[in-house]
Amino acid sequence: MNINIIKKKIYIKTWGCQMNDHDSSIIANILTKNNNYVITKIPEKSDILILNTCSIREKAQEKLFHQLGRWRKIKQKKSSVLIAVGGCVAAQEGKKIYKRAKFVDIIFGPQTLHKLPKLIQKSYKNKTLIIDIETQSLKKFNYSINTKINKKFTSFVTIIEGCNKYCSFCIVPYTRGAEVSRNQIDILSEIKQLAKIGVREIILLGQNVNAYCTDDIINKKKYRFSDLLYSISEIPKIDRIRYITSHPMEFSDDIIEAYRYIPQLTNFLHLPVQSGSNKILKLMKRGYSVEDYENIVYKLKSIRPTISISSDFIIGFPGETHHDFQQTLQLISKINFDTSYSFIYSKRPGTRASKLIDNTPIEEKKNRLFILQKKIAQQSFQWRRRMLGTTQSVLVEGYTKNNTQNLYGRTENNRIIFFKGNSELIGQFVSLKITDINYHTYLKGHIN
Ligand code: SAH
Ligand code: F3S
Repeated sequence: MNINIIKKKIYIKTWGCQMNDHDSSIIANILTKNNNYVITKIPEKSDILILNTCSIREKAQEKLFHQLGRWRKIKQKKSSVLIAVGGCVAAQEGKKIYKRAKFVDIIFGPQTLHKLPKLIQKSYKNKTLIIDIETQSLKKFNYSINTKINKKFTSFVTIIEGCNKYCSFCIVPYTRGAEVSRNQIDILSEIKQLAKIGVREIILLGQNVNAYCTDDIINKKKYRFSDLLYSISEIPKIDRIRYITSHPMEFSDDIIEAYRYIPQLTNFLHLPVQSGSNKILKLMKRGYSVEDYENIVYKLKSIRPTISISSDFIIGFPGETHHDFQQTLQLISKINFDTSYSFIYSKRPGTRASKLIDNTPIEEKKNRLFILQKKIAQQSFQWRRRMLGTTQSVLVEGYTKNNTQNLYGRTENNRIIFFKGNSELIGQFVSLKITDINYHTYLKGHIN
């Protein structure tokens, strides 16, 4: 007998970083795993609306209630629709969300998302607000592999959750809890499984991946981030290893040395410095000086002379003077940063920096951001220009949207290259000679 069960449809909206993107794919994995639910891309057609929020910058709460207002209209038309709010705003605000939006059914945190099937069931049954935002659980990672959802050849793998650093501007330690490292056996077995389904590139995820530390029980010593890198490098077929984000404070010599012995580590590193002024770094409580940062980069460049370094910058931190900003510009030239992310400082409630006097006018901050971004764009273009005529190893990701003749893939330094080739190359590494560049984005190449 063919029983046709209509599966409930789920719509997931994600804000924020790669951690959140990855969390959303875990949510999708958990809910579709036993064929109980299907994912829809149309919110109006869904039975359960899930919002995975981010609170790192700007009026996160306002943005949330704006979005919920739109979803309320969907619920008004179909009262059975469930609305679930997760992520960092949910962890931070908890029940306060419900107080302002009584139509919300479920509030869950970054570390309770694996409980969603139960929370949903409970909500259907009890018809009252269901809330679970506890931290310090790594159980969600038992659900992180999904061959249907993970791209076949590049995959995120979270190795550490939370953050203990308490940089004075940052909300993350309050929303994602303290650092908890995932067991290395679980991580390695997940990567081995990914390699079996064709994954060739691994992107290790964590707020501070280089704070990773567990126990090596057999050798009775600590098992650190560099140990994990060596173990991953022994897994056949994993030919590229990336990670985000690492912190300069714990970027120890053993990690730098790993660049000598592990060719799979990309010639590209995202190492956020935030500012080029020691005074500001101190106020930010970053735990390193500009000189410490330069030292790390020089040591790395002595092993990998062509490594490209990218960073995050915060502009207009309380107390940042014209001179401090000039020092940041000088550091950008000196390190010769590649593509970087930059943000105007955003006051986050409850953080230490929120108590500092901030008297730089917003127009001045915007002007500084403009100058900094222009400089980074110019440097980034120079990096691209230097690639012209070189041969690059590219992991082929697929066909471009509008053209089934053109394939595209990514270089080690994260540049997208278009080239002509056949479908057998998708998911493989190819050697491409770069033949063309433009100022803003693309590079073109041909098979060497
Ligand atoms: N763990 C990472 C950063 C996570 S947050 C690290 O140590 O670098 C990502 C980036 O957001 C940060 O690097 C910082 O540049 C930016 N950011 C965090 N809080 C911010 C705030 N209050 N205002 C502006 N930018 C912020
Ligand atoms: Fe935030 Fe600093 Fe941790 S930027 S995530 S508190 S390292």
